[in-house]
Amino acid sequence: MPLIKSVFFIFFASFLLASISYATPPPEPKQQAIYSQMSIHHPVWAEHGMVSTQEALATQIGVDILKQGGNAVDAAVAVGYALAVTLPRAGNLGGGGFMLVYLAKEQRAIAIDYREKAPAKATRDMYLDKNGHVQKQLSRSHGLAVGTPGTVMGLELARKRYGSLSRNVLLAPAIKLAASGFIVSPDLANSLNRAKPRLSQWPSSKKIFYKEDGSSYQAGELFIQKDLSRSLKRIAEQGSDGFYQGLTASQIEKSVKQAGGFVSQKDLKNYQAIERLPIQGNYRGYQVISMPPPSSGGVHIVQMLNMLEKYPLAKMGHNSAESIHLMVESMRRAYADRSLYLGDSDFVNVPVMALTDKKYAQYLIKGIDPNKASLSKNISPGKLQPYESNETTHFSIMDKWGNAVSNTYTLNFSYGSGLVAQGTGILLNNEMDDFSAKPGEPNGYGLIGGEANSIEANKRPLSSMSPTMILKNNRPYLITGTPGGSRIISTTLQIILNVLDYKMNIAEASAAVRIHHQWLPDYIRVEKGLNKDTIKLLKEKGHKVKVQSVMGSTQTIMKNDKGLYGASDPRKPSALSKGY
Ligand code: DON
Repeated sequence: MPLIKSVFFIFFASFLLASISYATPPPEPKQQAIYSQMSIHHPVWAEHGMVSTQEALATQIGVDILKQGGNAVDAAVAVGYALAVTLPRAGNLGGGGFMLVYLAKEQRAIAIDYREKAPAKATRDMYLDKNGHVQKQLSRSHGLAVGTPGTVMGLELARKRYGSLSRNVLLAPAIKLAASGFIVSPDLANSLNRAKPRLSQWPSSKKIFYKEDGSSYQAGELFIQKDLSRSLKRIAEQGSDGFYQGLTASQIEKSVKQAGGFVSQKDLKNYQAIERLPIQGNYRGYQVISMPPPSSGGVHIVQMLNMLEKYPLAKMGHNSAESIHLMVESMRRAYADRSLYLGDSDFVNVPVMALTDKKYAQYLIKGIDPNKASLSKNISPGKLQPYESNETTHFSIMDKWGNAVSNTYTLNFSYGSGLVAQGTGILLNNEMDDFSAKPGEPNGYGLIGGEANSIEANKRPLSSMSPTMILKNNRPYLITGTPGGSRIISTTLQIILNVLDYKMNIAEASAAVRIHHQWLPDYIRVEKGLNKDTIKLLKEKGHKVKVQSVMGSTQTIMKNDKGLYGASDPRKPSALSKGY
């Protein structure tokens, strides 16, 4: 056996080396490659199905469901519940998100909106003090930060309409992980340790995430969440009623009220997830499908692609000063529009068609000088400070029938508001911070919003989450998405450009150095790996450039006639893409 293993290893290693120059590496021989580990230059290959998530235990659960005969939606639901246990900073029951589903048989895509809603008692000025100043902590780490959660309703809607396995089967792995515990990874230990000041403010949270003596869990230790396992069981037994009614609902109401907030049992009972039509665009012959409002992601990805299509990016070269300049100028314009036009389309009229029209892009690029940076203050006024703390999570799944799921969900900041509803193990979001507390005031990601994103009862706060699919001949070719707050839109854009324009395989596309510009504040944020010569050239064009920490955690799948390729962003240590 060891001999066979080493022969396989040598064969596999030489295969990887031999294929290093391929844009898309060919698959390994079928009889040998069941699972393979990606490197930063090579995606994982599989024949039948693929799951890419930010946490390895959840990925394995998704793969198991696919192998059992579940479809991509079944796997997504099981992964969604599992991440609520294993990645508590972003996976959730007490938050919300968006799921894009491609239905192979019908050759159509649908978008499930399970974004949190403002509670019925929310009012426009709820975060202002008597002098009209925004009190930031109220929308970030206070009971008032909590929006009515959407995750359980979203996962249940997806399962009922498009899944094929029972609730019990899909929830069982998450229940087991919560009840019997799982081994803490270095990533989780580190994250919980860093979150201690925020989480420890709430006795109900401190009790769950830290030991009795207040110390942190270390990597390698067992982490059990009994209350959470019981909350999950109530969902398994009663469906969404097991969350939105009964014990969980009354505990959420009680805890939020004690923390000064509004979410009531009535808000929970009234919550509905909504199926929407995805945003559609096309780019160099590929179809682009992404999330519509209340996310801004789809609109602006299509808008930026429309602008960039006019330029020979491939010829200019990946991350050359010339191509970054054009990306930045299109980001500047798209994010400026975001601040004015985008909000919950159930409440305000969002001019989606106009913003994603190719003629509008044509008009916008007339203002782009290829040699000189525009000034954001001339495009629209504003004054901002960015805020650096965040976590959301994305997963991508594809099954053997060609169905696909691209899902991003979140509590907003890492661990949301930090508040666990007593006795439930459920962390509650601080998604209300995504509203504009006051027109012109930046939110936690430095994003400015206008009237369109002002607070109203039952309205959904504007999001940047952009679960996306690129179709080729009406079949999914690329499935991708990422966390990163305001940087979600620009990161997703770069994955698309890296594959479609620069012909990178998806591991290379995921590892490549990222840049970001969000109109205001007016500077290009770049990762440390960007070439100094490029930075110098960008500065010569008039850009301000700041080198900051890494951005995003993309989870991407690509399908071509050779099979499925998965790539988890190497920026996050516990992520895993795996297929079968
Ligand atoms: O919906 C949004 O746009 C934000 N609440 C997402 C937050 C996020 O991505 C944090 N993660 N890094």
